[in-house]
Amino acid sequence: TRVLSVASECAPLVKTGGLADVVGALPAALAPEGVEMRVLLPGYPAVMAAMEDGIVLTFDPLMGGVGRLLRGRVAGVELYVLDAPHLYDRGGSVYLSPEGRDWADNPERFAALCYAAAAIADGEAGDWRPDIVHAHDWQGGLVPEFLDQRGLRGRVGTVLTIHNIAFHGYAPPERAGAMWLRPEGFTPEGYEFWGQISALKAGLAMSDRLTTVSPTYAAELMTGAFGMGFEGLLRARRGDLTGILNGIDEAVWNPATDPAIAAYDTPKGKAKAKAALRVEMDLPQAEGPLCVVVSRLTEQKGLDLLLEALPVLTRRGGQLALLGSGDPGLESAFRDRAASEANVAVRIGYDEALSHRLIAGGDAILVPSRFEPCGLTQLYGLRYGTVPVVALTGGLADTIVNASPAGLAARAATGLQFHPVAREPLEAALDRLCDLFADRQMFTLLQKNAMKHPVGWQQSARAYAALYRDLLSH
Ligand code: ADP
Ligand code: GLC
Repeated sequence: TRVLSVASECAPLVKTGGLADVVGALPAALAPEGVEMRVLLPGYPAVMAAMEDGIVLTFDPLMGGVGRLLRGRVAGVELYVLDAPHLYDRGGSVYLSPEGRDWADNPERFAALCYAAAAIADGEAGDWRPDIVHAHDWQGGLVPEFLDQRGLRGRVGTVLTIHNIAFHGYAPPERAGAMWLRPEGFTPEGYEFWGQISALKAGLAMSDRLTTVSPTYAAELMTGAFGMGFEGLLRARRGDLTGILNGIDEAVWNPATDPAIAAYDTPKGKAKAKAALRVEMDLPQAEGPLCVVVSRLTEQKGLDLLLEALPVLTRRGGQLALLGSGDPGLESAFRDRAASEANVAVRIGYDEALSHRLIAGGDAILVPSRFEPCGLTQLYGLRYGTVPVVALTGGLADTIVNASPAGLAARAATGLQFHPVAREPLEAALDRLCDLFADRQMFTLLQKNAMKHPVGWQQSARAYAALYRDLLSH
């Protein structure tokens, strides 16, 4: 089976969050299942720097400039890269200008990507034609529209994966022409959503199959509290929607071979990494658990609640070491807290190596998200014996076994879950963490269970392969 994956990020080339990890990992994870996956990416400067020349197709014009499609293999991934300098050759970040606002031409930037995907599916870029185009988030949402324009819809299968439904890919209706959309597609069955163009809506309405990154988030998406306006559409398509959990790259995230730390393979072996982390983060010795956070600092992640609940942890001799960046208000609130509290250490920024040292050196990793489609850092925590303390939502609900009396009695618990996502339940969870931490035997059992829990891609790769097979057999 040939699958073209269409995405706005792919690790290690370009990453703002977990989407990149997943897109980067899927090709290798799916190869043993007989799936040949190639990835189509925008030609951002960082991506272009990794590409040799290898033009396979020219689009002249392409939504306001010239586009070239390159082919290459980078970091083990077979890539198509859309080199369109008028759309992608600029500073700032992938989605935002240096002032922190969405690029005004984001609708065209990702419409062009979907247009290129359809051209590949049409055989314009060579012999390799995908049986299925698998798009990710709103940036890939217009794939079925462009396939339809070529009469390929129904002949080439389409899958859309929702990594985060908070982003809808809106554009005002008068932009349809600039995005090369057919005016007649501006309907509820097409790309119209409440009087606007929504690339996400197009993908959700027109793709053959929909997936998201955990079974619980799939169910949550069909409710008003989580669906962000798409719950009705998703309920109508519930038969086509499945939740498939993300895995992690076990070669990169393995405490026994991790070059960023003093390697270990038992809970006891974590002591060196923990001591080194205290030195690095300038934290004193302490009685309580050393808690870590590696996260984007946004409303989604619930870290404002952690600021409120933190005294419960520090009062009991616990500590916090946080690495993150994002919302300026949260950045400065955490900085201030670190300045006034010896047991709180904060690094603002993005630092891959430090993220490994934090996850290895912590006793517990905190993920108090308001919503979390899957979440990867709690999976890293499991692998490293760093006990996850998580909100009971989305993928956090599906990947952690709560240390309830039953979970402990069955010797199955791997972490702590709290609900609802609010200050008091988080405080209670931090209190419970301190109790468990004080019981060395019990805490070691949690860590051992965590380290044994499967977090790789195997099972989910099989689920994607089965989904592709099923789609092609219909
Ligand atoms: P999301 O995609 O919503 O940000 P995930 O948990 O799925 O959440 O993925 C986040 C990814 O980004 C993880 O690989 C995490 O380690 C990484 N990450 C987040 N913030 C930072 C940071 N400041 N420095 C290094 N890595 C980070
Ligand atoms: C999104 C979600 C996160 C998920 C990631 C990869 O960014 O916020 O929960 O793990 O996508 O699927």
